[in-house]
Amino acid sequence: MTMENPPIAELQRIESLAAELAALAGADIQFALGKAMQVSYKGEPGWMRDPVSEVDHACEVMIRARLAEAAPGHDIIGEEIDDRPGRNHDWVWAIDPIDGTANFVSGLPMFAASIGVLYRGRPVAGALWCSATHVLRPGVYSAHVGGSLNFDGVEFVRPDRAQVRRSLVGTPQGGTAEPFDTRLTGSAAIECAFVAAGLLAGTRLGAPNLWDVAGGAALVLAAGGDVRIHTAEGWVPFTSFQGPDGDLARWRAPMALGRLDALEALLA
Ligand code: IPD
Ligand code: CA
Ligand code: CA
Repeated sequence: MTMENPPIAELQRIESLAAELAALAGADIQFALGKAMQVSYKGEPGWMRDPVSEVDHACEVMIRARLAEAAPGHDIIGEEIDDRPGRNHDWVWAIDPIDGTANFVSGLPMFAASIGVLYRGRPVAGALWCSATHVLRPGVYSAHVGGSLNFDGVEFVRPDRAQVRRSLVGTPQGGTAEPFDTRLTGSAAIECAFVAAGLLAGTRLGAPNLWDVAGGAALVLAAGGDVRIHTAEGWVPFTSFQGPDGDLARWRAPMALGRLDALEALLA
């Protein structure tokens, strides 16, 4: 079955809007750096994982307000706010205002603002503001299906790393993935962006939510990488997000992204 893509001009507009929103979120995140901020924890009282800060919430509010103007009617699934402005719309924006919040609130500079755009469930565009990038400063990686990977609006050209004998891969708990060296960053989204840019050869993510990987999957696919998910049939090629009972917001599955040789090592 062939999958129809939206018109190229629409995809370009969507990518630019996603990149604009990611950059705005990044500016808000940078502004908040080093200032006192409210931090609370999700889950049971006393639970000490899954922190969320007032900056996470404020960034999602800002992104939703801008989308209401620039993409009215489109649906939004965000990590911090439950509102669905366009349930059953073909276009869905999956927002993680800060991915790597535990790093962010600790001051470890490894986090991202992730915007993924789905068309009929397929990630067709994405933009990730990343606190760290290949040029050692924050910036936005973005892409749309059929286009190139861009960094701050300019086509990203991968450097030649043919001399590097052991490339790096991300793994959920550290662990091994011979013949690669493994890394654990604390941000699923930044790992996806690094895979798209070739800084990591691949990554395997434990059980990400839609908003963790929608933007990153769009970047990796546009950059020519492969994406697999774990289902009842085992690891299968990923084509689209399908939530239980059709509810995209509840999609969650182990995912691996990257070069074929890295996926083989990560999924062995
Ligand atoms: C977390 C990060 C982390 C992953 C966690 C996520 P958050 O997202 O992606 O890498 O291991 O499962 O919850 O909470 O910082 O947006
Ligand atoms: Ca996240
Ligand atoms: Ca988050």
